[in-house]
Amino acid sequence: MKQPKRYLITAALPYANGLKHIGHLAGAYLPADIYVRYLRAQKRDVVFVCGSDEHGTAIPIQATKEGTTAQAIIDKYHPIIAQNFNDLGISFDIYHRTSAPLHHETAREFFQTLNNKGDLITKESEQYYDEQAGSFLADRYIKGTCPNCSYPGAYGDQCENCGKSLSPDELINPVSTLSGNPPVKKITKHWYLPLDRHEAFLRKWILEEHAEDWRPTVVGQCKSWIDGGLLPRAVTRDLDWGVTLPDDVDGGKGKVLYVWFDAPIGYISATKQWALDNGKDWKPYWENKDTKLVHFIGKDNIVFHCIIFPVMLQLHGNILPENVPANEFMNLEGDKMSTSRNWKLEMEDYINDFVKPENGGSQMADVLRYYLTLIAPESKDSEFTWKGFQDANNSELVSIFGNFVNRALVLMHKLCKGKVPPLHTAAMNELDQEAIDNIKATKEKVEKLLEEYKFRDALFEVINLARIGNQYMQKKEPWIIAKTLDTNPEGQQLIDNCLHICLQLTANLAILINPFLPFTAGKICYLLKVVEKILDWENAGSMKLLSVGYTLRAPELLFRKIEDEEIARQVEKLKAAAIHKEPVAAPAAPVATPEAIAVKPEIVFDDFAKIDLKVGTIVAAEKVEKADKLLKLQVDLGFETRTIVSGIALHFKPEEIVGKQVTVVVNLAPRKMRGIESNGMILMAEDAAGKLHFIHPETAINNGSGVS
Ligand code: MF3
Ligand code: ZN
Repeated sequence: MKQPKRYLITAALPYANGLKHIGHLAGAYLPADIYVRYLRAQKRDVVFVCGSDEHGTAIPIQATKEGTTAQAIIDKYHPIIAQNFNDLGISFDIYHRTSAPLHHETAREFFQTLNNKGDLITKESEQYYDEQAGSFLADRYIKGTCPNCSYPGAYGDQCENCGKSLSPDELINPVSTLSGNPPVKKITKHWYLPLDRHEAFLRKWILEEHAEDWRPTVVGQCKSWIDGGLLPRAVTRDLDWGVTLPDDVDGGKGKVLYVWFDAPIGYISATKQWALDNGKDWKPYWENKDTKLVHFIGKDNIVFHCIIFPVMLQLHGNILPENVPANEFMNLEGDKMSTSRNWKLEMEDYINDFVKPENGGSQMADVLRYYLTLIAPESKDSEFTWKGFQDANNSELVSIFGNFVNRALVLMHKLCKGKVPPLHTAAMNELDQEAIDNIKATKEKVEKLLEEYKFRDALFEVINLARIGNQYMQKKEPWIIAKTLDTNPEGQQLIDNCLHICLQLTANLAILINPFLPFTAGKICYLLKVVEKILDWENAGSMKLLSVGYTLRAPELLFRKIEDEEIARQVEKLKAAAIHKEPVAAPAAPVATPEAIAVKPEIVFDDFAKIDLKVGTIVAAEKVEKADKLLKLQVDLGFETRTIVSGIALHFKPEEIVGKQVTVVVNLAPRKMRGIESNGMILMAEDAAGKLHFIHPETAINNGSGVS
């Protein structure tokens, strides 16, 4: 690809409803920061935007918990989160807020543009409503049992236990979180983004054009969303907290934009604010094709950044992301990180315990950055353990990286009078050349890996260069040569060469480690008495970073050892704070009616084998005229799409079953119903209350899959 003219890097806007934990940090902010620091060192034109996501039901719900207002909640958490990021070296160019008037205007204009162009549709539907509270129950205002994992506290937008995204209608035994009452249904009008219109675009853009360069986990999730059938997605809510609809939109009073509609537009409003603050033009960053847009997110945000927001951007005339390097999840000490169970390590806690000057200072921010990158969940979930953290620090940062830099400085002071010694080319051997070649090779490897968003592997290469430096020094043994100088004065040349190379290697390490551990890079510059300008990426690989004869500072340790007691204290603290919840048991199945229990006469296997059952997806559904009970369905069976007439109209509305997978008897003789030929039968289970339920695979699978 041609080199982009400018870069726009975004990291998911965190909800300002509480402190953020290291899982968030490792998922989006740290990798984004590493990438951005690398681009800045390359002197590319780059803007790194982020900010607080201050809408959605999560904010007022937290306000109720804390006995205060939604505004007070965002005003409390926004500055703390911003400060935490800063303390850990996350170098946003702007940390904006979606409560800012500029954001409200920007989001409203976006909605308006799409609405005026006919890119949105409106629909009336019945939605859950709390009569006591007098309000509709969107997203987190409704709770119930998860249809996927039976967790009893699933929200109307997502189950926090299994991560599945949900709609309120899918919850079993829903209750209002406002009053605790079971809700009623009430009709309401909303605006929808008809994703189904954009399937062809998404298939081509993601599954063809980006099948190779996006992470397989990301492409895989997109594929199952697309294959599962894209449906119109509501982009408005009946809430009083959020971005209100434009005044002139008919029927828009009392409604706000859905948080997932306005939040990603927050990237645009943040860019606008950054441009205002810096006398720049924001437009090229969102409109010119020579901008490279990259979204850093956690895996729970994939659908929003890869499917919904791109459709919005495309319709609005903006550029699309070049990549969306989403991370998987990071567990903590053997369990999923969770706010509700208080099983987490907050950035704030880590900063208080380690980063405050009296506890280790900013170098300790780098230790966290190091370990989180080392275990980055780039391709699968990973696990943070305090023991792992201690080992990474003690046996890699202290023993390899810190040790090399320290030895180079100590020996230089001892054996070369505190000055950078010259390189005597005539006295060089292949070990020296090999060390020099390794510096150049490492630069290239790191560069390539960073461009591919492989941050763990890139960091490994940098540490490996320090390891190579240690081995080189060990082989050259300048301290042994020093003892023989009386009889072998030529030996000084060998000592000089070794330390010249080790010091140039140290300066190179500063450049290469800078994107990952910026405080450490700064500290090395201090020890080498060089300005931070030296950290420009183009300097990497050079053997002329330090001038011969230059005096350097006395060595200071880069990293301190982490003691067993510190680790034990953290593990104890984590366990003491955890809130234990009863393990989730599947809800008792309702008792079946006697008729349902009655078992039919025995059959032999061959009888059963005659029935051909296959999985299909309902791709269209409509009412059959003058037949209350019948729906005419089109079912995609993989090998063909069939018309099936099914007696389920009293149980399901046509629009709510489109996209659902079902099990179909495909070799049942055709039968005419109300003049329509039905070519198969859909399997259904009937509960004690007479309500029908589809029988379908646990997760979406290929249409046409056999069932036996
Ligand atoms: N607040 C969301 C979360 O924490 C992320 C929003 S990302 C944005 O999951 F794109 F919408 F901004
Ligand atoms: Zn669940």
